[in-house]
Amino acid sequence: MFDLLLPDIEHKKRWLMKKRNAAITAVGGYVPDYILTNEELETMVDTSDEWIQSRTGIKERHILKGEGKGASDLGAPAVQNLLDKRGISADEIDLLICCTATPDMLFPATANIISEKIGAKNAWSFDILAACSGFLFALQTAAQFVENGTHKKVVVVGADKMSSIVDYTDRTTCVLFGDGGGAVLLEPNTEGLGLIDSNLKTDGIGRDYLCLKGGGSAYPATEKTVAEKDHFIYQEGRTVFKFAVTNMAEASYELMQRNNLTDDDIAWLVPHQANKRIIDATANRMGLDHEKVMLNIDHFGNTTTATIPLCLWEWEKKLKKGDNLVLAAFGGGFTWGAEYLKWAYDGDKI
Ligand code: ACO
Repeated sequence: MFDLLLPDIEHKKRWLMKKRNAAITAVGGYVPDYILTNEELETMVDTSDEWIQSRTGIKERHILKGEGKGASDLGAPAVQNLLDKRGISADEIDLLICCTATPDMLFPATANIISEKIGAKNAWSFDILAACSGFLFALQTAAQFVENGTHKKVVVVGADKMSSIVDYTDRTTCVLFGDGGGAVLLEPNTEGLGLIDSNLKTDGIGRDYLCLKGGGSAYPATEKTVAEKDHFIYQEGRTVFKFAVTNMAEASYELMQRNNLTDDDIAWLVPHQANKRIIDATANRMGLDHEKVMLNIDHFGNTTTATIPLCLWEWEKKLKKGDNLVLAAFGGGFTWGAEYLKWAYDGDKI
């Protein structure tokens, strides 16, 4: 429809300049202090630093310690960091969306808890669940509220305490995950900057290969679910790997094609950080120089919904106004996809 109405690239550009886009105007992040190294994992399960680094790219990850601490304790400081940098107060937020696979509780929404913790008194808030693709799904959802003119300041926060659902006797999963929170603020932009296009997909067949079975309505917590470790992540790594490699790369390539983007046009690929080999495959499919790929998997591991905003947080100073970014993810569901955005500010001036 869009292409039929606006057949050439110049028309498209002019249309984008007039349109109200949702642009990221601030980024925040938080990781807890405790660092779990590969060497420490070697003392817990039959693994080695060499295996973990060569198969995943991970050296260490941060872990949130302390009783009663949940994803909101990672998300709230990330949002506070964003507010401090942008110089605004929490009561200016209109809407806060939290994406998480490890909510503090099944209900209320972790977004409600984060809003209360930071004092976002004028915001309504809700959670989105799309596992490791959660940040992309939440960003696209949040953008609708800014683009339609009803909301001026929308926060998207990805927060996951993966250590709460990892079985530290299972070497096939415990080496992969870490805890963290990352947040972005979306505001209206009429300069043609911000979120331009989104290519998101789901396939519920993935529930057989990557899930947390216990504690939901199908398998409520019982002595049996606890004994069978149904409250920990279950993953058939090899199958998930094959789906992830193909689908994250294809979704990103499709997005480039339909926006007439070449590798030269793209300043940065911001990929979900599940496995460095999956990231490399995506960059190769896009024909991208690996220098243009944001990577934090080595020091944060897979922080699920926080990987992408934590990359933006770490790379912010290098980002320039007008830079073309492709965000890409794959996760449980299955869920996957890619988003194209034009960065809206010079990060070195923050
Ligand atoms: N240390 C040493 N050996 C190990 C370890 C470990 N930590 N883990 C597995 N192995 C062994 C296996 O037992 C197996 O041994 P075997 O051949 O004797 O049976 C061997 O290593 C190879 O195992 P594979 O599972 O084939 O290893 P693979 O190269 O596939 O790597 C991994 C495993 C890292 C999990 C990979 O499959 C992967 O990254 N999968 C995708 C993860 C992903 O993208 N998840 C989605 C996001 S997560 C979310 O949404 C919550």
